[in-house]
Amino acid sequence: MRADLSVRIGRLTLSNPVLTASGCFGYGLEAAAAFDVSRLGAIVLKTLTAKPRHGNPPPRIAETPAGMLNAIGLENPGIEAFLTEILPKSRKLGAPLVASVAGKDLADYAALTGALQVPGISAIELNLSCPNLNAGGIDFGGDPAFVREATRRCRKASPRRDLWVKLTPHVADIRVTARAAWEAGAAAVTIANTYVGMSIDWKRGVPRTGHGTGGLSGPAIRPLTLALVAKLAPECPIPIVASGGICSAEDAMEYACAGASAFQVGTASFRDPTACLGILESLPGCLKQAGLARWRDGIGRLKRPTRAKETL
Ligand SMILES: Cc1cc2nc3c(=O)[nH]c(=O)nc-3n(C[C@H](O)[C@H](O)[C@H](O)COP(=O)(O)O)c2cc1C
Repeated sequence: MRADLSVRIGRLTLSNPVLTASGCFGYGLEAAAAFDVSRLGAIVLKTLTAKPRHGNPPPRIAETPAGMLNAIGLENPGIEAFLTEILPKSRKLGAPLVASVAGKDLADYAALTGALQVPGISAIELNLSCPNLNAGGIDFGGDPAFVREATRRCRKASPRRDLWVKLTPHVADIRVTARAAWEAGAAAVTIANTYVGMSIDWKRGVPRTGHGTGGLSGPAIRPLTLALVAKLAPECPIPIVASGGICSAEDAMEYACAGASAFQVGTASFRDPTACLGILESLPGCLKQAGLARWRDGIGRLKRPTRAKETL
């Protein structure tokens, strides 16, 4: 029997829970040469800003134990070039597209969201959590009042397309910012963006990224983000989309246990551009090992030790 991998995220029913993480798959066009990307549950596109951005000075990437630091700084062609030059091509890929936006203030977020009310865009992820900007990014996303207001304004600007709110892990309690998002109308929360980290070339006495710090991603962060998902899930009324160090179907199953409805593959795609496909093909075997016929039956199966109730 074929495993049923379908999952509902707000108004969208995805054929499977395997999504790409923003910034790790471009606009889907390069990977399409490597595999049939229409098999993905959805492609989450590189974050867009109102104006084109060149990003941060190099080096923008540094390898770390079990992970990487990136300080790209939201390099992107800007919303106009995306709509006219890129979207017509990405639309032909056949997978649902989730656009990602980062504004410089509340009005900018709403304007970007409004501009994306176009055929071919299935949902919009609000990137309230980029660690590589001098202003905005995680400074915005750590403030529940900003999360609430940004979500509320974008909700108004997006009557027919769901909002997914991507949160920063740099908060005392992820439940507070997530609550701000769902109370303001988010259809899902993406947990989480990268963690601020640093690596130093001690011989020269300089940071290994041009920006000074970078966002830590990859397997190194998986236990941290997994704990955030497990903490949030029991009281979160909207689906959680996990993002943090997922490299295998087994990793994805852990996140499902913790309460994630779908998941995004980020850093793993840099090592192997077909990583998503490998994970998708291995999921049915994992479901079988767990005695499950459907992906959605595996969501939130975590048995919580009674003593851990306070911390999880
Ligand atoms: C090189 C690189 C660029 C990224 N760019 C973005 C971005 O533009 N927007 C965004 O929301 N997240 C961005 N991220 C964060 C990823 O989407 C993802 O949330 C994070 O890397 C954790 O997942 P992972 O450990 O699977 O990579 C970027 C990550 C990397 C490594």
